[in-house]
Amino acid sequence: MSTKKTISDSKDIKSFTGPDFYNHVAGKSIYVDDIPAMEGMLFVKVFDSVIAHGKILSLDYTAAEQLEGVVKIFSAKDITGENQIGGIIPDEPLLADGEVHFCGQPVLLIAAETEDAAEEAYHKIKVEYDPLPVITNPREAFAKGKLLTSSRKFQLGDTTAAFKNCTYVFEGTTEVNGQEHLYLETQGAYAYPTEHNSVRVYSSTQGPTQVQKTVARVLGIGMNQVEVDVARLGGGFGGKEDQASAYAAMAALVAYVLKKPAKCILNRMEDMRMTGKRNPYSSDFKIGLDKELKILAYEVTHYQNGGAAADLSPAILERTLFHSTNSYNIPNVLATAHSCKTNLPPNTAFRGFGGPQGMYVMECAIDYVAKQLGVTADIIQRKNLLKDGDEFSYGQIVSACEAESCWDKLEKEVSIEKIKEEINAFNKENKLIKKGYSLMPICFGISFTNTMLNQARALVHVYLDGSIGVSTGGVEMGQGLNAKMMQVAAKEFGVSLIRIKVESTNTSRVVNTSPSAASSTADLNGKAVQDACKQIQERLVPFIKQELSIGINDTIYFVQDILYVNGIATTHNWKQLIAIAYVKRINLSAKGHYATPVINFDKTTEKGHPFAYHVYGTALTKVTVDCLRGTYELDTVKIVHDAGASMNPAVDIGQCEGGLVQGIGWMTMEEVVYNENGKLLSNALSTYKIPDIYSVPNEIDIEFLKTEKDNLAILKSKAVGEPPLMYGIGAYFAIRNAVLAFNPNTNITYHAPITPEKVLMGLYSKK
Ligand code: MTE
Ligand code: HPA
Ligand code: MOS
Repeated sequence: MSTKKTISDSKDIKSFTGPDFYNHVAGKSIYVDDIPAMEGMLFVKVFDSVIAHGKILSLDYTAAEQLEGVVKIFSAKDITGENQIGGIIPDEPLLADGEVHFCGQPVLLIAAETEDAAEEAYHKIKVEYDPLPVITNPREAFAKGKLLTSSRKFQLGDTTAAFKNCTYVFEGTTEVNGQEHLYLETQGAYAYPTEHNSVRVYSSTQGPTQVQKTVARVLGIGMNQVEVDVARLGGGFGGKEDQASAYAAMAALVAYVLKKPAKCILNRMEDMRMTGKRNPYSSDFKIGLDKELKILAYEVTHYQNGGAAADLSPAILERTLFHSTNSYNIPNVLATAHSCKTNLPPNTAFRGFGGPQGMYVMECAIDYVAKQLGVTADIIQRKNLLKDGDEFSYGQIVSACEAESCWDKLEKEVSIEKIKEEINAFNKENKLIKKGYSLMPICFGISFTNTMLNQARALVHVYLDGSIGVSTGGVEMGQGLNAKMMQVAAKEFGVSLIRIKVESTNTSRVVNTSPSAASSTADLNGKAVQDACKQIQERLVPFIKQELSIGINDTIYFVQDILYVNGIATTHNWKQLIAIAYVKRINLSAKGHYATPVINFDKTTEKGHPFAYHVYGTALTKVTVDCLRGTYELDTVKIVHDAGASMNPAVDIGQCEGGLVQGIGWMTMEEVVYNENGKLLSNALSTYKIPDIYSVPNEIDIEFLKTEKDNLAILKSKAVGEPPLMYGIGAYFAIRNAVLAFNPNTNITYHAPITPEKVLMGLYSKK
């Protein structure tokens, strides 16, 4: 069998997941730690705080620094520029200066010739702390006035007046825990000094420009002296949108000061204890409905656990508000959110960016109403789904809405009534095994909520042999971006995919990049690629017409490298015509730019049109709970997902499956546990459980709602990175429903994740 398969073997786009798929499985793809070490490379190890809050009384690292192989130990005072890495708010030092605010906070950097020497030095360092009170709970932080940023409030209609007209009003409290990113590739960077007082940094980051900016700031040099290069990430999931900058700055600082190559890569346990995670939230809701079960009013207050520094939490807080009403039309809304400062590692972006946390509360509120009124939640959900012309609490008017169409397509294929009957019959028959189901509609806004970030650039080169190089500001992290960028360029030019190579993401080639995040990378960078390709086309077309004596009114284009004139294939091809174009001195390179039109948001009124469009979908989840053991199995998840006109179903299905399973993990089994001293107890893979092949649903069935409606998505192929995560919320309610089938008097609270332990306690508890 040939092992030399290349992308040319997969002309069928249905199976084209990108240029890397063989290299990935063969272990040939290069990640930061695979970059060949240069002569004299130093290893950088972080010495971090063992307490969550306190004053540093003394730091003694003389003995450590004298060990053989140890070159230098850096403290805050060795930083050549500013000791500051805060992205949105400048509230986070790179190295602790006088005080520590969380367990795992970097205090010193050990630069050594070998990893062993660095490790030995680590154990020789002596620090004395004067402990200060530790807060891990966001409500306690709020009560003590510890906020990371000002609180936010979204308001639509008048909830106070509306509650008076409600037949039913219910209130409740919910808790949702964080989530460890657990990207396969841990945080890390490799840096070396270059000419003119500059550095080149290879970073595992979603935000090359964020890294460039942070490194420049910490080193005290210009951004033009910092070149950041990213080939790909072994996963980011939001964890490398902001937090990669710290490790890049550490490697760069050592390289810059010692004039040697330096590598700083965290091992798994360091990564788990030092880096922030998905923000946990504690929330209060009040929901009011009329007698037809239409939701008239919804009030919600979110207490976000931000951790010890702002990081991206202020932006995450905002997205929680944007998604507080999920997929429902609610005419009167009052949503408040507080970003609370605690002594945990600064929490950060994680797939969904606060949206899932907001949507979870909404679903709890509906579930609670359903239980109180003795109906199933799907009755309330379906009645209140968004429609065109409805208004979101932030003022955007709903358009091209697919909430009902996704739900109804699913319902057409599986009768919810029948499922209810089957499950009820099963539960009657079986004493110790119970089944449950749930529906989970989603609605997710596409665009960075910070309007400024919705811009991108691309650099497209057509080389004189007809091959094409594409650079964008987007980072490949497993989400299939490079596949999509190749498709866009191939389509624009009319050439075959094998002509195109997507280059690494490099801040000297494409500048001022927005992070690859908000599910917007393909939309933004794809449109920038289109723009660059169009510019080259505009130069090529008149040239070819003149060269081949084709009339100016004739249409010419390429299909799979062949030139067509007025729809008829010619004997001319791309490669041959590019060679001539070069000889005739045609500019074969272009820089493209894209900025999303229409979008805007006014933070003073909290109103606007922040999203280019929304993505919808509905999931049906069926589970079986073992009521003797508290364990459960996910039987089926059936999804109808609004993909628009998917440009790459293989990639997009993969994103749906991966997002779903990651969401299920967050809602069911992944439990981040800190003790009251702020120490992470779930600090290794032995104590933090993520879904494996045995815990994924026995059946996952994803169907696309195919639409060709006009939207701002790239090639009308809607963004898909984050939305599917929220289907996983359905698993939580399906399991909860099975617990209730066994024990209607359970005291199980709305506290996610619903781990087997919580299920077991819930099965045998009383209100
Ligand atoms: N898929 C893989 N395989 N690895 C990742 O790190 N990140 C997710 C999602 N899917 C991620 C992923 C997150 S958090 C986002 S925002 C999007 O991909 C980012 O890529 P996109 O903008 O191209 O969708
Ligand atoms: N989503 C994801 N990442 C972000 C956003 C957002 O809306 N804003 C800033 N970073
Ligand atoms: Mo994704 S959380 O926007 O990186």
